[in-house]
Amino acid sequence: MTSPDEFGRFISVFLAVSLSSTFQGASSELLVSPAGPTLVNVFSGSNVTLAVTFSGASDPVVTWSMGDLPVVTWTIGSDIPPVVAQNTREVLRIESGGSLTFVNVPLNYSSRYTVEMTKSGLGKSSTTFTLNVFENIQNVVLTLQPDLAKEGPDPFTLQYSMDQGTVEQKTWFFNDVEINSNSHYSVQTERLVVLQPNRSDTGRYTVTLRNPISSVATHIDVNVLYGPDEPVLEASPARPFYVSGASLNVSCQADGFPRPAAEWLFDGQTVSDSSVLNLTRVQTSQGGVYTCRLTNQLTNEQRQKSITLNIYERPSGSPTCSVQSVNDVDLQYSCGWSGGTPPAQLTFPALSNSSSGAGNFSLTFNSSNNLDGKTVICMADHPIEQNRCNVTASNPVRFLPTVRTTVDTEGKIVVTMQCVSEAVPQAVVSWFEGSEALSSGTTPQFEIRDSNVTNFLLKNYSCTCRNPLGSQRREIQLRGPSISDSSLFKNPNGTIITLTWEVPSTSIVTGFDIQLKGPDLLSEDTKNIGRSSVFRTIQVRPGSARSADVLYLDPKLKYLFRIIPKALQEKGNPSEVHRTGPGGGLSGPAIAGIAAGIPCSLLFLLLLAGSVYLCFSWNKNRSRQTRYPGPRATEKATTTPNNLLTGGLRSLPDYTLHETPSEKSMPVPTFHPPPPVRVATRV
Ligand SMILES: *[C@@H]1O[C@H](CO)[C@@H](O)[C@H](O)[C@H]1NC(C)=O
Ligand SMILES: *[C@@H]1O[C@H](CO)[C@@H](O)[C@H](O)[C@H]1NC(C)=O
Ligand SMILES: *[C@@H]1O[C@H](CO)[C@@H](O)[C@H](O)[C@H]1NC(C)=O
Ligand SMILES: *[C@@H]1O[C@H](CO)[C@@H](O)[C@H](O)[C@H]1NC(C)=O
Ligand SMILES: *[C@@H]1O[C@H](CO)[C@@H](O)[C@H](O)[C@H]1NC(C)=O
Ligand SMILES: *[C@@H]1O[C@H](CO)[C@@H](O)[C@H](O)[C@H]1NC(C)=O
Repeated sequence: MTSPDEFGRFISVFLAVSLSSTFQGASSELLVSPAGPTLVNVFSGSNVTLAVTFSGASDPVVTWSMGDLPVVTWTIGSDIPPVVAQNTREVLRIESGGSLTFVNVPLNYSSRYTVEMTKSGLGKSSTTFTLNVFENIQNVVLTLQPDLAKEGPDPFTLQYSMDQGTVEQKTWFFNDVEINSNSHYSVQTERLVVLQPNRSDTGRYTVTLRNPISSVATHIDVNVLYGPDEPVLEASPARPFYVSGASLNVSCQADGFPRPAAEWLFDGQTVSDSSVLNLTRVQTSQGGVYTCRLTNQLTNEQRQKSITLNIYERPSGSPTCSVQSVNDVDLQYSCGWSGGTPPAQLTFPALSNSSSGAGNFSLTFNSSNNLDGKTVICMADHPIEQNRCNVTASNPVRFLPTVRTTVDTEGKIVVTMQCVSEAVPQAVVSWFEGSEALSSGTTPQFEIRDSNVTNFLLKNYSCTCRNPLGSQRREIQLRGPSISDSSLFKNPNGTIITLTWEVPSTSIVTGFDIQLKGPDLLSEDTKNIGRSSVFRTIQVRPGSARSADVLYLDPKLKYLFRIIPKALQEKGNPSEVHRTGPGGGLSGPAIAGIAAGIPCSLLFLLLLAGSVYLCFSWNKNRSRQTRYPGPRATEKATTTPNNLLTGGLRSLPDYTLHETPSEKSMPVPTFHPPPPVRVATRV
């Protein structure tokens, strides 16, 4: 503010006028001159004096003109009051020295003022002042238009207004740096236009308004609204996929003013209205595209960005490989690993590098492609786990057919033949009677029923086991009841013996008669005298039996034992005869020889040799007979048929390439004290 200066100048002008007028009258020429500056700036309402001095004359006539209009006239020193223009009398006063004083000067007194002094005979002189009356600048207000400054093409404007004041000079500042018009700013009357505003235009805008006597600075803080900017999505922990059950969160950030409000959308639904999406113990159903939508709540600008969350689950179990036959010609390799998100990718690299499947995959190849015995690996790839399985196709292996005999409730013999050949894919078993096809399928058994054993024996059966890689064929020649081998064991004191026997694998047997020739057992009652000369049945064993114990033997006596195989009532050839008792273990002829006495003559020996020969040739004949001789009238023993029907089934042995002509069923037995019961079967 300059008002104190102005006041000082006013004082000095006044003093100068007073002093100069004291020493006047000495010069010869009238001269008037300003006693201070000729440019005078004052506030409106203040008191100011335009001070002059003069010399060269006393008491000249003074005339002040406002512009060209004389407003005050006076003769200095005169008693006659000055003549003041009517409408200026409230303001203008003339001082005794000729200076002009303005009291409470109004605005409209800004003008050029000229003082002219005249003195008759001494000429005239004049000088000119310029008076500027200013109003104080007051209550300046800056306003922003529009109300919200926004980043973008629309400019915003700052405009000042004030209650009063005369502005001679205005200066705009942004954060204390002066602004000049350029491509970004346009400085106009009473306003500043910010073109293409952006976020860096946020700050304090100041306008300084000046006139020669006052200066006012006013500011406004402008926030340029912007955003949301491009959102940044960050998952934590960051993974290409998540295993179901895991927990994670995803943050959504973007710059903006005001800070943007976030919202998470999944499947068209709002799942969170916070900028962090928390997912705990995720399920596979929660996998997919999540969208974060950010909104500037003042500008309503929106921006969104999506992230895909992969939530995976391991397939259950392990992959399984298999190979099937297609039309008996092709091999279809299959690989499966079900479940899982996403489904596992399955390939057979050894078969094809170009095809793959998801979850389930099959490839079909002709069996001629060298596939026999080739292990084919299926690679099962899942993001969580890599696994594999393999399968090896193989042709049917050589096998031995087995035969199982049972008796059904109607008393018929049920013969179940079985052909099992290991093969991958599983072999198809076909049955033939002679050349006639009977059945075909994957069940390895074939069952035939008849009440007459002879009917089984007349037919030739065969089976083939086939898969696309090959086949195996076997004939099954059923045999009547027969025994291939038998043995006798006895306990140390000779009171118990055990008979064991074996049966050819294709023999039809439903039971066995254990026969004895010799003295009565200690357990038998001894009513029937003389029957010790024929074989009599002492036990009946079921078709599954391969051994029999005989108790209560008298170790001092001799016994003969044999086993008769049976198919229902039909009897097969007896087993060899086993002896026990003193000297037991020697052959019959030897016993006979010993009985005849060693001292006997050569003739006796010859006779013995002859009987040995006869015996041998008889045995030979017998073995040449058909495998199933007809029932023999001699040595026929009655049995209880019920015992046959209760014959249990033997479990079938597994046949492999080891061909065994007969079944070994029992190890060499050890003897335990027999239970104190009588043998149930009586003759
Ligand atoms: C101006 O002069 C008048 C009369 O002499 C006086 O009443 C007034 O207070 C003065 N004003 C100022 C601002 O000095
Ligand atoms: C999300 O989890 C964070 C910490 O992991 C927690 O600070 C925040 O409050 C959670 N937000 C919600 C919406 O649950
Ligand atoms: C597939 O690729 C592997 C490795 O590159 C190769 O060993 C295999 O022979 C290929 N299989 C086929 C069917 O081409
Ligand atoms: C085939 O699979 C079996 C059982 O899964 C495994 O023991 C064997 O090593 C595999 N063979 C090959 C060649 O991968
Ligand atoms: C069994 O059949 C054969 C020939 O078919 C016949 O000779 C025999 O008498 C029959 N046996 C029985 C017990 O029916
Ligand atoms: C069974 O086969 C044998 C020898 O292969 C043959 O001699 C016999 O005639 C055949 N029997 C039938 C009923 O075809």
